[in-house]
Amino acid sequence: MKLLVIGSGGREHALVWKLSQSSRVEKIYVAPGNGGMEGVERVDIKTHEIVALADFAEANGIGLTVVGPELPLSLGIVDEFKRRGLKVFGPEKLGAELEVSKVFAKEFMRRHNIPTADFSVVTDYVSGEEIIKSGKYGNPVVVKADGLARGKGSFVCKSDKEALIALDYLMNKRIFGNAGDSVVIERFLPGREISFTVVTDGSWIVPIVTSLDHKKAYDGDVGPNTGGMGAISPCPYVDASLYKKIMNEIIRPAVDGMMEEGRKFTGVLYAGLMLVEDGPKVLEFNVRFGDPETEAILLRLKSDLLDLLEAGANGDISGVKLDWNTKPSVDVVLASEGYPGKYKKGKEIAGLDNLTEDIIVFHAGTEFRDGKFYTSGGRVLNLASVGEDLTQARNKVYRAIEKIKFDGMYYRKDIGMGK
Ligand code: AMP
Ligand code: GLY
Repeated sequence: MKLLVIGSGGREHALVWKLSQSSRVEKIYVAPGNGGMEGVERVDIKTHEIVALADFAEANGIGLTVVGPELPLSLGIVDEFKRRGLKVFGPEKLGAELEVSKVFAKEFMRRHNIPTADFSVVTDYVSGEEIIKSGKYGNPVVVKADGLARGKGSFVCKSDKEALIALDYLMNKRIFGNAGDSVVIERFLPGREISFTVVTDGSWIVPIVTSLDHKKAYDGDVGPNTGGMGAISPCPYVDASLYKKIMNEIIRPAVDGMMEEGRKFTGVLYAGLMLVEDGPKVLEFNVRFGDPETEAILLRLKSDLLDLLEAGANGDISGVKLDWNTKPSVDVVLASEGYPGKYKKGKEIAGLDNLTEDIIVFHAGTEFRDGKFYTSGGRVLNLASVGEDLTQARNKVYRAIEKIKFDGMYYRKDIGMGK
């Protein structure tokens, strides 16, 4: 079967890496992909060009398209493909709304009694100002743009003053355009943040091993929020009873709730959760695989990923059972100085040839020119491995990282070490 994977980051490299192990895969195309993806054909179509992507799939006999990032999902890529009878893995536009609109997600959770932080929705600055000044949600308080903002639309504000600045940016200065038409103002939840992922066909749920992202830029979990600086799997903070609770109180009601509301959800449902004293609460839903969680997760998957994604695209995953390596995995992101803010590109990367076989490299932001790799993104590389235990996996990865060099390279040295 010929596959098309959409996206260009470490997550997509991990998907390509895993899918290429399937005996049923004949060829993999990636649009647009990155310089480090081996054995695939890159296609020069951007992820938002959903009609061109469907044209490509049609013209090239693609048997299954796998969508990595949220942007094409938000634009209805799955609807477009299905309309043309093309097989595609991911939720339709109505389902993607769970990630695309924070207001929809919060009100959906309220309707279905899914635990989340108390909140209000405002559609004008003055109402937001009133809520913030009333102290209704205490301090700190969280201000979130309704729409997609490349992961930068949420502000954890230590004071009313900070919250008003965030509100002003979103609603008056409109730094994220329409994404700030509506804003969620919510209570801050203190606790541990974890990622929880399942695959569903709208009724059946296939569990995926747990994982833990590290979102802050610097060691000790400080600094600005990033897309993720590293991940481990399993998540050490989720035992069997918490797992069951999350399934029963969050995932099952979400999947059923979407069905009840005529938004049958097929694809990856990823809940960003805060483990608070009185239980897990949802910070956000995503409708796709996490990055870098996917890199850590897929390293542990023994089964053929194509079976799962194909069954998902066919709308029935009830026959799929996944086998997992019980050993833990660690994935560390090597980033460009300045990320998640401004950073330089085009720095030569050295040392990739010196790694041992048990280190898997997932490229996130690289280009390949004249036999050399160069940086082309904020997150540049992921180095990942599985170990007998977490410490061994971590040591392996960090030893390998010492061999890699590029100008301005930085990474967290405490992935998987707890705070
Ligand atoms: P979101 O865009 O909703 O995923 O939020 C981005 C990040 O802000 C999350 O990953 C959390 O680290 C933090 N955050 C969001 N909402 C809250 C909240 N209610 N309480 C504490 N931290 C939050
Ligand atoms: N690692 C966080 C995300 O994928 O949204």
